[in-house]
Amino acid sequence: MAQLWGGRFTKETDQLVYNFNASISFDRRFYAQDIRGSIAHVMMLARQGILTEEEKEKIIEGLEGILRDVESGKLEITEQYEDIHSFVEATLIDRIGEPGKKLHTGRSRNDQVALDMKLYTRDEVHQLDQLVRELLQTILTIMEENVDTYMPGFTHLQKAQPVTLAHHMGAYFEMFRRDHERLLLIYGRMATCPLGSGALAGTTYPLDREYTASLLGFEGPTRNSMDGVSDRDYLLELLSALSIMMMHLSRFSEEIIIWNSNEYQFVEIDDAYSTGSSIMPQKKNPDIAELVRGKTGRVYGALQALLVAMKGIPLAYNKDMQEDKEWAFDAIDTAKGCLALFTGMLATMRFKKERMEESAKHGFTNATDAADYLVNHGVPFRDAHGIVGQLVLLCIEKEIALDNLPLEEYQKISPAFGEDIYDAISMETCVNKRVTAGAPGRTAMEEEIAECKKYLAQ
Ligand code: ARG
Repeated sequence: MAQLWGGRFTKETDQLVYNFNASISFDRRFYAQDIRGSIAHVMMLARQGILTEEEKEKIIEGLEGILRDVESGKLEITEQYEDIHSFVEATLIDRIGEPGKKLHTGRSRNDQVALDMKLYTRDEVHQLDQLVRELLQTILTIMEENVDTYMPGFTHLQKAQPVTLAHHMGAYFEMFRRDHERLLLIYGRMATCPLGSGALAGTTYPLDREYTASLLGFEGPTRNSMDGVSDRDYLLELLSALSIMMMHLSRFSEEIIIWNSNEYQFVEIDDAYSTGSSIMPQKKNPDIAELVRGKTGRVYGALQALLVAMKGIPLAYNKDMQEDKEWAFDAIDTAKGCLALFTGMLATMRFKKERMEESAKHGFTNATDAADYLVNHGVPFRDAHGIVGQLVLLCIEKEIALDNLPLEEYQKISPAFGEDIYDAISMETCVNKRVTAGAPGRTAMEEEIAECKKYLAQ
């Protein structure tokens, strides 16, 4: 056990208590942020005359050495320390002696951990931003290549009206675009630096909080020291955003699982992204998509757990807040992993275009267009709806698509039909007549694709 405190204690900490209390097993992952924060703190202390230039130099040199040695594997972060802050400070004192004891001047672990976690989260949001961009780019590429790939659009998982693969993918582009915007917004809301809040009531040293904040890339210091040490809203916002993003990934995964099934065969997941069965030699399973769908629950769990943990905490810092880390780390790791795997799976997936178009034709997705044809020939819509309903029934009996029903059969039910009905209900016509903004028709889709490209170019 190596602790930063103990002066006022007459007994050793019970080992079980020590283990229960310690956070080193998980907060070791932000050693780099902890050291970055300490360097900024020391630069500020020296600038304010609280430390000498010489002390500053020694401490920074020591901290940089620790960072280097941890990174190279020369120095191991062992669990004999209570937390990462204790590890860094104790190692520093060990290495440079007296000046190291001044590092923690005007600082508490409460504002220190608030800073470390925020710095870590900011770095992670940066990586998430990159990963979402890569997913958006992959979706956009599929859109560009599939403006003329016709497929059934569904409601109630029943074939409804024809759309294109580009249009279907475009729906996901919009979802992940919103996720991306949310991440950027959250990054912007992590703009204040908690360091200098002290334990809860600031400090008596003449700290320059503006300076520390600017050294660490923040816009300024947090405005209230009690809030500074006990605010975890930004984590809740991030976990909410990640939950929504995972929900999108999960819906997409669910569709891919359906499309990849023996019955649909709209897509084939690449061998590199599929798994086999230990007993059934024929199997090729969509495990990655299923895992992404399943892991969504972990991220929701993290959000729920942190909301519950925070709801009863009186101001200011309480140890409950230490729990934020494992949940947030797990949710962030999970989201990053899912994004990367999903993007790889999507980029290598083969779309079976003929199969999609056949499915659209044989699912009567052009029935609405057949009714619209009649309306254009003077038949009231309600009658047209009934007429096409009878035609669909006839086709079901004959096991053919509307496209393959002979003209005489059409005319038997309504004389308003002419030879041009086939052109009017072709997939191409059905889709390309839908050119209102946001619709799948070629001209509307091309505008949408141009807009998506512009978004990604920013
Ligand atoms: N490990 C602690 C955490 O993650 C650091 C802060 C400790 N502060 C304290 N007053 N015990 O929250």
